[in-house]
Amino acid sequence: MGQTLTEKILDDHLVEGDLETGEEIGIEIDQVLTQDTTGTLVWLQFEALGLDEVQTELAAQYCDHQTYQFDFKNTDDHRFLRSAAGTFGAYYSRPGNGICHNVHKENFAAPGKTLLGSDSHTPTPGGLGQLAIGSGGLDVSVAMGGGAYYIEMPEVVNVHLEGELPEWATAKDIALHLLGELTVKGGVGKIFEYTGPGVESLTVPERTTITNLGTELGATSSIFPTDEKTKDWLSRIGREDDYVDLSPDEDAEYADQITVDLSELEPLIACPSMPDKVVPVSEVAGEDVEQVIIGSCTNGAYEDILPGAKMLKGRTVEKKTEMVVAPGSKQASEMLAREGWTAEMMAAGVNFSEATCGACIGIGHVPGSDSVSLRTFNRNFEGRSGIEDDNVYLCSPEVATAAAIAGEIVDPRDLADDLGDLEAPEFEMGSKYSEGMGQEDPDIIAPDEAVDDELIKGPNIGDVPLKDEMGSELSGPNLLKMEDNITTDHIIPATQDILMYRSNIPKLSEFTLSRVDEDFAQRALDSDGGFLVAGENYGQGSSREHAALCPMYLGVEGVLAQSFARIHKANLFNFGLIPLEIDASDYEQIEQGDDIEIVDDVADAVRSGQEEFTVRVNDEWELTATLDASERERRILADGGKLSHTKKQAEGG
Ligand code: F3S
Repeated sequence: MGQTLTEKILDDHLVEGDLETGEEIGIEIDQVLTQDTTGTLVWLQFEALGLDEVQTELAAQYCDHQTYQFDFKNTDDHRFLRSAAGTFGAYYSRPGNGICHNVHKENFAAPGKTLLGSDSHTPTPGGLGQLAIGSGGLDVSVAMGGGAYYIEMPEVVNVHLEGELPEWATAKDIALHLLGELTVKGGVGKIFEYTGPGVESLTVPERTTITNLGTELGATSSIFPTDEKTKDWLSRIGREDDYVDLSPDEDAEYADQITVDLSELEPLIACPSMPDKVVPVSEVAGEDVEQVIIGSCTNGAYEDILPGAKMLKGRTVEKKTEMVVAPGSKQASEMLAREGWTAEMMAAGVNFSEATCGACIGIGHVPGSDSVSLRTFNRNFEGRSGIEDDNVYLCSPEVATAAAIAGEIVDPRDLADDLGDLEAPEFEMGSKYSEGMGQEDPDIIAPDEAVDDELIKGPNIGDVPLKDEMGSELSGPNLLKMEDNITTDHIIPATQDILMYRSNIPKLSEFTLSRVDEDFAQRALDSDGGFLVAGENYGQGSSREHAALCPMYLGVEGVLAQSFARIHKANLFNFGLIPLEIDASDYEQIEQGDDIEIVDDVADAVRSGQEEFTVRVNDEWELTATLDASERERRILADGGKLSHTKKQAEGG
């Protein structure tokens, strides 16, 4: 039987296990990336593990999420990251140089290589044939030290693209269409592999918009084969030598197949406040729009901004609407400026932000209360924009620009009919990529140009807390009962006022789940241990391991949920919190404040492979909870988390 492209790359990197769906496999990692909000912990853990030099082919540290240096804490974090990259041997990309996925794609991503990143949108370069996976920071630290990355072999699902996109429909609409069909849980435990004649009609930037949004489906990764379009893109950025021919075997077998006829797609939009609440734009047309933002790691490339620039040529942004362009990388900014598009857009009433995540996580450009914001981003979870009652819609740059011109949500086809002279912009590739890329980029410091050779830790940078080995008894109150789809933004918000404590765990922990219940942190601290209870898809969203680490610091022992998001579940293991799955009926019955006791000898049961645990509630009734974990995850859990486990292993324990 032939192999899928995913299987071929995994086979090349396999160090443990067999490529059987659901089996745990260990793979060798070629490249790692980390960003500023997760990176400080990555390096603190790298240090705590006693490692002293990066072992992967390449490691890159980006500063993108919190680039505005509001006070010394952010600046100290950036300086620490620069010193860590210099000390241990990683590339360092300065704040303002761009979003990790965009800058990595431009400078380092390579077909056929494996990439592990402490950011959930790490799969972005799958659009050029790289097998890229997002994980918690501790997994990145270990991989960077030369350790394998372990994962359950996902199902490989074939997304077969037919036909070509009609005018005004874009790559973003392909991704939104899939989200509407499959929902934010539709990709859990899966890798989406794109094939079919429709692939060749898409350029690399279009493909990476789709692979970026695979994360919103909950997918482990998404990947395209390589072809002339990949070769062309790599040669434009001066890296044609990185090209490798990659495709699945003709007789490859997939777990499932989804066919999308591109010619049937139309402009789509995701409504507040979930990326899968997708409808045709025409269904919500007429809503007044106060803010439009083009950018983010999804649609922040030069090629994503150009269509808006073309649509705005000779026009202006409607007076009641503010339009901001936040390029994904400084390279994109520079190309737009060199070609005169920045001036054209400014003349039309557009403001430019530095290349940063910024607004995507509520840092800057927070929408006004009870107003509509249209963004080309990938997430619109409630409150993520920085205000609780936000109305954020997700759409393509074309739909966003049409709204800026009209001052309201409008199907760009209708706007074109009304205006008479508005043409659908052709998707056009950038032509000036090779200037100042890679090692030439003045904002990237290569390991051999390092300016620091020891770690520089400011007063806001603390140590990583450790958890004790698991004991035989585990009990405590249900500290908080939550609904379905609790995101890592709910657990630890990424807004400026909170995230600046990312390297100071005691302080950051005070904000744990504060968006759900502002008394939670104190209640957890006052209680000697305890549990969280949640519905489906607990921990969806970003890879931020603070969402496991802070509850651990507050004494939380475990989470009982109907289901877990992949990266967050791995983070719970990594920080020694037991993730137990429960039935919907038991979830309904259990109340906040109930006493929970795991009846079994927990440490023994975890180590011995026991799957079902008896949980006594209030000494009155019992439920059965399931621990779905590999042997390796069980050892990590029982040892009190991956840091303690890895140290114990190194000491021969
Ligand atoms: Fe940054 Fe938002 Fe992407 S936070 S990495 S632009 S999802």
